[in-house]
Amino acid sequence: MTGTPEPQNENLTLLGRRVLLGITGSIAAYKSAFLARELIKRGAEVRIVMTPSAIEFITPLTLSTLTGKPVHSDFTENKDSGEWTNHVELGLWGDLFLTAPCTAATLSAFANGTCSNLLQAVFLSARCPVMVAPAMDLDMFTNEATLVNLKTLGERGVSVIEPASGALASGLEGKGRMEEPEAIADFVEDFFKIGMPLAGKKVVVTAGPTEEPIDAVRYLGNRSTGKMGFELAARLANLGASVTLIAGPVKLDTPPRVSKRIDVMTAKEMYEVTMEVWPEMDAGIACAAVADMRPVNPASSKLHRGDLTDEIMLENTPDILLEMGVRKSASQVLMGFALETDSVEESLKSAEGKLERKNLDFIVMNTLADEGAGFSHDTNKVTVLQKVNIHTETRIFELKSKREVAHDLIDMLSTLLIS
Ligand SMILES: Cc1cc2nc3c(=O)[nH]c(=O)nc-3n(C[C@H](O)[C@H](O)[C@H](O)COP(=O)(O)O)c2cc1C
Repeated sequence: MTGTPEPQNENLTLLGRRVLLGITGSIAAYKSAFLARELIKRGAEVRIVMTPSAIEFITPLTLSTLTGKPVHSDFTENKDSGEWTNHVELGLWGDLFLTAPCTAATLSAFANGTCSNLLQAVFLSARCPVMVAPAMDLDMFTNEATLVNLKTLGERGVSVIEPASGALASGLEGKGRMEEPEAIADFVEDFFKIGMPLAGKKVVVTAGPTEEPIDAVRYLGNRSTGKMGFELAARLANLGASVTLIAGPVKLDTPPRVSKRIDVMTAKEMYEVTMEVWPEMDAGIACAAVADMRPVNPASSKLHRGDLTDEIMLENTPDILLEMGVRKSASQVLMGFALETDSVEESLKSAEGKLERKNLDFIVMNTLADEGAGFSHDTNKVTVLQKVNIHTETRIFELKSKREVAHDLIDMLSTLLIS
């Protein structure tokens, strides 16, 4: 007999944590047995609530044997005696309520406040943080209804552990497979380790390039991919911030838990949207590579060879970062980016001027003179200038992945945002 795995050694990263594990009627329910074991192995105490459908996929006996605790699936434990399961007590017991796998049906119930089974009642009464790990077929996952439900839950503070891509039980290939138990356990571990220090903070992040039309098909643009800004948004969201991501034309998926994404094309559109949201924000990160100039009077149809002139008349675009700095309140924190192409010394001088002129708290400088920095890489090498009273403090970072750079930058931003 297998029984409850004994928590062993120093890897008890979840020691003392109570995880209420919800299981729903997905083919991925068999993975919940591995997930329960993995959480227990890391020291967590696990109690399980199943939907009636989930019992078709995995038996309560397996799960109660693994957890060493009775598994709950019905409001009434014993119909003859009238004994019932106290869903409110279950909802209060957990430090975390994690439903994995979470079907499309249960996502919908959670998003709409439906209360037609024990698991749904526990969701409604849970006071602890809630996570869901969706599992479903590709088309179910990308259906507008599911996406709206996920968005609603995200906006209400539910953490979504994004499904992975790969072969699905339906025989299709794509996104929808429940994340692997170890990866989910890692996510849970991170959650308890770092907590949500930015919960309640609102941050706007601009990312990507802008495209300034010359005519109906041509534009002036730049090579920004948006990766740096999206990594910053992802990190902020993982730390609990409510993130509004304003993105130029990029080919990137919205990071999980980002509250709102607004797609724009031109500098003017980015300016207007940013100015609209900026007054409500606690912090802003202007990471987008915004065009400084745009063609005057772009043609509304395609210009033909003979219509094109030797010169394109340009005019200035609105300076988003400058205007954010002008409108910045005493409590708001503002981080800008400066991409330079000159030597490090020249670039630093120019960045310092921008820090002052644009009323920023931080400016993140990178120069294409450094190998591995800038647009087309997954890495970046940054130097951060911070205004501290009348001084400027400079921190030079090594070449790192953009994800690691995002961690460094958000750590710095957080020192002002939390203080
Ligand atoms: C073999 C089989 C596999 C299923 N797998 C999934 C799945 O992975 N995701 C999903 O959303 N629904 C899946 N369903 C449909 C759900 O079981 C169904 O919507 C059910 O009502 C879910 O109820 P629950 O969310 O209360 O557990 C599957 C159904 C069958 C018969």
